Amino acid sequence: MRVVKTIKSLRAVVSEARDAARTIGLVPTMGALHEGHISLIDRAGRHGDFIVVSIFVNPTQFGPKEDFGKYPRTLREDLRICRERGVDAVFLPSVQEMYPQENLTWINVEKLAEPLCGQLRPGHFRGVATVCAKLFNIVTPDVAYFGQKDAQQAAIIKKMVADLDFPLKIMVCPTIRANDGLALSSRNKYLSPAQRSDALCIYRSLMTAREMIEAGVTNPKTIIGKMRKIIGKAESLTGIDYISIVDSRNLQGINRIKAKVLIAVAARFGSTRLIDNILVDSGKR
Ligand code: PAJ
Repeated sequence: MRVVKTIKSLRAVVSEARDAARTIGLVPTMGALHEGHISLIDRAGRHGDFIVVSIFVNPTQFGPKEDFGKYPRTLREDLRICRERGVDAVFLPSVQEMYPQENLTWINVEKLAEPLCGQLRPGHFRGVATVCAKLFNIVTPDVAYFGQKDAQQAAIIKKMVADLDFPLKIMVCPTIRANDGLALSSRNKYLSPAQRSDALCIYRSLMTAREMIEAGVTNPKTIIGKMRKIIGKAESLTGIDYISIVDSRNLQGINRIKAKVLIAVAARFGSTRLIDNILVDSGKR
């Protein structure tokens, strides 16, 4: 496994793989790897790709009061995992390597970046889209793998790739959960045992929403009200950022549930903000 820190050496490694007629698969991450990330790496492996994992805690997607400084950094363990899963190259750039000068060019994916997390994290998706565009230009992957766990991010990246004609395919892979249902996240490390157990209410609320839709409820407000009650009971809850039911294609709010909807939650436990979502196809009742 090659571990490279500069854009120049990464390009050389990828060029060798391309000369050997390999398909290049990119898994962009911020490290603190867990089974969610591993599922993306394994997917690239099954696809037969030359697997590039990027590990870069991207400062431009964190707000001034967010956790950039304390975001978990577990490099040794991350490299062990990558080696074990057959990753071919790990791209580990410094902030200086990625942003050598003040960055003045930004990608804004309008409309899709506005609802849900966009409301409370201004500039977040601009940072995500921009760093992904940079990674796509540096790594030139044929396929890039993203998780459904960050549904809005995946939708934004797909749209950016379509709008700007990036020559690559975006694969969105299912959310990996702990046995009890909590979606895996690098930020779960911040939770105390009590908060960890309280946070399960997010998954429970999503399952209840699914059951209600399957039972024929079509008014999003009724479902959101019920979800709010379930989440509101958690003792360590410090706030619900949103509970939304949106059209899964354009992320816009809906008055009545029909076809495929995305049910998305962001809630805070102590100072940790967690997000989760499910897709429900009400047509498949
Ligand atoms: P990060 O949070 O490290 O996530 C990297 C990738 O892993 C994302 O595509 C995310 O959706 C996926 N992922 C995280 N938890 C998952 C889970 N439980 N199941 C399935 N996939 C999961 O997302 C980012 O980093 C950054 O915004 C990034 C795209 C790297 C840009 O900086």
